[in-house]
Amino acid sequence: MKRVDRVIQHIADSLNDKDVLEVACGCAEFSYAASNIAKTVTCIDIDDTRIKLNISERTNLKFQMLDATEMNFVDDLFDTAVLYNAVGHLEGIIEKVLSECRRVVKPNGDIYLISSFKMDKWFLRDTLLRRLQENVEVQEIEPFLFVKIKNH
Ligand SMILES: C[S@@+](CC[C@H](N)C(=O)[O-])C[C@H]1O[C@@H](n2cnc3c(N)ncnc32)[C@H](O)[C@@H]1O
Repeated sequence: MKRVDRVIQHIADSLNDKDVLEVACGCAEFSYAASNIAKTVTCIDIDDTRIKLNISERTNLKFQMLDATEMNFVDDLFDTAVLYNAVGHLEGIIEKVLSECRRVVKPNGDIYLISSFKMDKWFLRDTLLRRLQENVEVQEIEPFLFVKIKNH
């Protein structure tokens, strides 16, 4: 099984028939796989050069070129937001990105920070988890670290 499929399987309850946002989607591998079970998937990135998959072949999947610190979505639009292998690249802006995620995800929705990258996992464990005040669940399932934030 591909790594990304293991992630989908692990958080399936938060994706199944849900409106999902992937932030900093890069190649959009996660979004493409999530669109097999989600109601809709919106993936955003500040640039579109990494996308190799054919996003337009899926009617429930769309990409938007967007700065994650200033999303143009209305409040409470998504059930779930996911940052997959992305936090290490957002270090300087992560708090603003998380604040935007909290705004666009419904109350009681889920925000996931998921990574198999060493750099991301260090940043998550050593820095970010100490700063997060809210209801956070952490699970380590090699090679992944899953951080789930319950939105309020
Ligand atoms: C490690 S890469 C890609 C991770 C992606 N989930 C993947 O699996 O390919 C991190 C991504 O963050 C994006 N990024 C950096 N700053 C951003 C911002 N302000 N808003 C949205 N995306 C951003 C980069 O363009 C890059 O595609």
